[in-house]
Amino acid sequence: MVSSKDSTSKTLLVAFCLCVVCSIVVSGTAVILKPMQDANRILDRNRNILSAAGLFDAQRDSDEDVQQKFSQFMPHIVDLNAGRILSETELQQLQIDIETYDQRLVINDGNYSEAIDRLYDVANIKRRVIYPMIYVVEQDGELETIVVPVNGYGLWGILYGFLALQGDGNTVKGLAFYELKETPGLGAEVRNPNWTALWPGKQIYEADGSVGLRVVKGRGSGDFQIDGLSGATLTSRGVDNLLQYWLGEDGYAPVLAQIRNSGVQN
Ligand SMILES: Cc1cc2nc3c(=O)[nH]c(=O)nc-3n(C[C@H](O)[C@H](O)[C@H](O)COP(=O)(O)O)c2cc1C
Repeated sequence: MVSSKDSTSKTLLVAFCLCVVCSIVVSGTAVILKPMQDANRILDRNRNILSAAGLFDAQRDSDEDVQQKFSQFMPHIVDLNAGRILSETELQQLQIDIETYDQRLVINDGNYSEAIDRLYDVANIKRRVIYPMIYVVEQDGELETIVVPVNGYGLWGILYGFLALQGDGNTVKGLAFYELKETPGLGAEVRNPNWTALWPGKQIYEADGSVGLRVVKGRGSGDFQIDGLSGATLTSRGVDNLLQYWLGEDGYAPVLAQIRNSGVQN
């Protein structure tokens, strides 16, 4: 005979209670950990920005060092379509809080991002944020560093990184990719320090304003060329494409020209 303890309704009740308790524990943990995850995400972003600017020492720098070094980087939001930095009033109108804004989270939001016409989608990313966040370092009133986010399709997926420029908006300080799906030992070599060491000092714009900076197959030469990665021509081409797109007229070229002419105040 089935005892009352083993009845179907009791079994279902126990299972139900277990589900409720587990879901409370899981969602409670997620809520409690959210601030820590957000802080880690920001720390990681800051580390990558410093890395692009050649200011991050992976062996030595603690989290505190990262935050201390990063404090000199001032964030600004640019309007790619208008080709300029947005004022605080404009940011308020757009309901952008610069402290919490994350451009990767608004990539599918039509208020902040847009589809790229296939004809012009050189970086093969399909959509772009209209208001990316750039970072600027000024020293004694002089522009020292400008860091811009870049992304573009490699072989297996989109590579995300930061490109750091000197204050002239024309000389490369460094390039750091923080997210990619490329193959370790092949395309993922874009993160190899020997390759990233090739970037500082390279020039971006030709005298006529066109983007001269290229990743070439084989060995690069002169002020504008970077060696392609051997065995990873497709990823190298992806990096070349993203440079052409983001440094070109559809990308940051107008903003960089504005910063060169009138600084970052507006
Ligand atoms: C499993 C596998 C993974 C690969 N991953 C990459 C990659 O991440 N990036 C890349 O450019 N090529 C990758 N390749 C190689 C490409 O298919 C292609 O051969 C290479 O880009 C050509 O470069 P090369 O002209 O310098 O030899 C991979 C190939 C295989 C078989």
